[in-house]
Amino acid sequence: MDHEDNPYNPGAGARPPELAGREGVVKKAQLTIKRTLSGKAPKSLMLLGLRGVGKTVLLNEIEQIAENLKCQTVLFEVDGDRSLAEQLTPQLHHVLLKLSRIQHAGHSLKRAMGLLQGFASKFKIKYGDAEFAVAEPVTGDLIIDLTEIFMAVGQAAAARKTAVVICVDEVHTLNKTDLGALIMALHRMSQRQLPVLLFGAGLPQLAKLAGDAKSYAERLFDYPAVTRLNAKDAERALTAPVKALKVKYNQDAIRHIIKATDGYPFFIQLWGSEAWDVAPKSPIRLADAKKASVNAIRILDEGTFNLRFERLTQRQRQYARALAEFGAEPARSGEVAKLLGMTVNEAAPVRDELIKKGMMYSPERGLVSFTMPLFDDFLRRKLPKWKGKKAVGKEVKK
Ligand SMILES: Nc1ncnc2c1ncn2[C@@H]1O[C@H](COP(=O)(O)OP(=O)(O)O)[C@@H](O)[C@H]1O
Ligand SMILES: [Mg+2]
Repeated sequence: MDHEDNPYNPGAGARPPELAGREGVVKKAQLTIKRTLSGKAPKSLMLLGLRGVGKTVLLNEIEQIAENLKCQTVLFEVDGDRSLAEQLTPQLHHVLLKLSRIQHAGHSLKRAMGLLQGFASKFKIKYGDAEFAVAEPVTGDLIIDLTEIFMAVGQAAAARKTAVVICVDEVHTLNKTDLGALIMALHRMSQRQLPVLLFGAGLPQLAKLAGDAKSYAERLFDYPAVTRLNAKDAERALTAPVKALKVKYNQDAIRHIIKATDGYPFFIQLWGSEAWDVAPKSPIRLADAKKASVNAIRILDEGTFNLRFERLTQRQRQYARALAEFGAEPARSGEVAKLLGMTVNEAAPVRDELIKKGMMYSPERGLVSFTMPLFDDFLRRKLPKWKGKKAVGKEVKK
């Protein structure tokens, strides 16, 4: 059918035509914002999930909800190679400008502006219109200064009967010091019942990283798991977008796509998009769905999967290939090491590198798993089986 009318939207952070199965998280976020606006202690949320489940989409949705509730919002994606201070300063400046639009001046707002200016010069952060206020003295200690700024921002927001909602994507890439400082500042917001809320999103390892940075992080945040869609929601995600265009799927085509995508939102968009393009007309049949599978897998192999693969060193590829031997479910790192002909201790550094790169995570002690669904299939297609110290077979070249 006509590509121009294709309703699906595969791509990072791309708004889906139908946001299926996320009513629970959306409601929770809404409630959290309303509670904060009514003066209760804010409880920040960290959305945890694998690649392609729809965390970024949810963050955008939450930002929209916060705006509708008249909160002052900012949204940004952490770049793990830059400091938090550098990335947060322009965002906080933006928030302060929004607050000053509601009501100009006021003691807390002036103080917040001054602190932020002091912070920017102390941490040598440059951006846009460099000088924006008369600098207040700051200590140069990130934890103390960030907390002070958050307090002043919170007071300025409270004085204007609004809340500040900070949406941060890829939080797991923050280093331990920065993550710890952010958590401490938020802890103070909660203790003082000041209206500054954080909605974060990251890979599943974020819960442990936050806990390691500050042990009380577990109680300070809620960690809703953003997972693959169940069969009913997956069907809705696939069929609702075409229904509006008077197009239908045959039941066996739906079953095929849900099985192939395992209910993962990104894959549903991709398979749906390919099925639309190959189907000559409505209804979309099983044969179309099967063609869509071939095309979608080729697109992933040449694109997303291969890009991730290219980022791995030789020994990281070997470890990943060994893990892939265990299928999609988490495997014991001891078993993976055994397959590589290594002891657990010998294999541990490679495993940790892969976790740091965001390729894998540990769902619980002693277990490892991929952060990208279907990546295990790709590796089994791409690389020969690894046994002991050598490969059995040859690497598949494109
Ligand atoms: N609830 C959902 N229903 C249907 N499609 C979704 C849903 N959430 C996300 N998607 C789609 O999945 C893809 C990945 O979303 P994204 O938010 O980038 O995932 P993540 O940030 O978790 O990697 C996008 O193409 C988006 O349109
Ligand atoms: Mg994302």
